[in-house]
Amino acid sequence: MLYNNNICRILGIKYPLIQAPMNWINNAEMVAAVSNAGALGVLGPNAGPKEIDGRRVRTEERISIELSKVRRLTSAPVGINIFSDHDDATRAYAMKTIAASKANDVNVYCLVGTFDEVIYKAIKEAGGIIVHRELNPTPESARVAEENGADIIVATGVDEGGMLPSGCMGTFTIVPTIVDAVKSVPVMAAGGINDIRGVRAAFALGAQGVYVGTRFIASVECPAAACVKDMIVAGSGEELISVAPNERSLPTAAAIEYHKRLMSGESADAIHKDIMARGGLGVAMLDGDIVRGIVSVNTGISAIRSIKPVADIVEELMADFNA
Ligand SMILES: Cc1cc2nc3c(=O)[nH]c(=O)nc-3n(C[C@H](O)[C@H](O)[C@H](O)COP(=O)(O)O)c2cc1C
Repeated sequence: MLYNNNICRILGIKYPLIQAPMNWINNAEMVAAVSNAGALGVLGPNAGPKEIDGRRVRTEERISIELSKVRRLTSAPVGINIFSDHDDATRAYAMKTIAASKANDVNVYCLVGTFDEVIYKAIKEAGGIIVHRELNPTPESARVAEENGADIIVATGVDEGGMLPSGCMGTFTIVPTIVDAVKSVPVMAAGGINDIRGVRAAFALGAQGVYVGTRFIASVECPAAACVKDMIVAGSGEELISVAPNERSLPTAAAIEYHKRLMSGESADAIHKDIMARGGLGVAMLDGDIVRGIVSVNTGISAIRSIKPVADIVEELMADFNA
């Protein structure tokens, strides 16, 4: 079924499935395992070694090290995450990431943020493929991305794990809205897709592929802390609480404190600053400190009931695409 899928053709992969880049909880092993299974693995921010020879390794150096490790583990297509906005520091880091990616024969750029002409130009000059994921998806932003050369557009609903869109639309409504807004660029669905039912629903809504993050946290290869994987397997979306307008968490001690502060009217900026000062998502999700950190997952985790090798997750999600 659907062997002539546009996403597969554009990315040169077997299955129309992208593993969403996830801050901190990603590494070469997970990315390569996804790509070796026929989907697209994507390296995210803060991947790679944190220290070498007792010295803290800078993020850009880390990404280079991890990209070359990915290439030792797979020759299949892989992607890299790029933040895209009009900030000079973001652009400067994007340029370094593009150069490191090119040097490692990585040419799929999964952008998150909004359209930035400087970043688009640099990627196109590097011969890259652009997967555009607007942080706050709208028909207008999708059209701008398409007109400026995005190869694939991802429509994200508030069901997702990670940084939430500021709008209210869930995956069921944002996907057909974006599909109807664009002319011919293929759209992928993101947010709450954890099993084959979600994949089928995404295709029924007009998506040509799925962009999946949370399901891959509960994989053998994901470097997330064991206690976080266990929380997902035992947990339910009903437990999620808001810790900021665009951030949710399973109820860790820190999340409960942030939630109370948010409900009592404290500014979201102040809370977000505290979350970042304590190390952001890395504290609980990578290091396992669920007293001080938050655990961000999608609203559908009750469909995730076991930790599996990445290859099994890919096979299960993509069962309709096997002859
Ligand atoms: C813990 C976590 C961290 C994330 N960090 C990033 C990130 O740094 N960059 C990015 O482009 N997407 C990131 N995402 C991915 C998106 O938010 C994505 O749309 C999502 O994972 C797909 O939805 P799902 O988690 O419901 O499958 C993250 C997701 C999670 C769960």
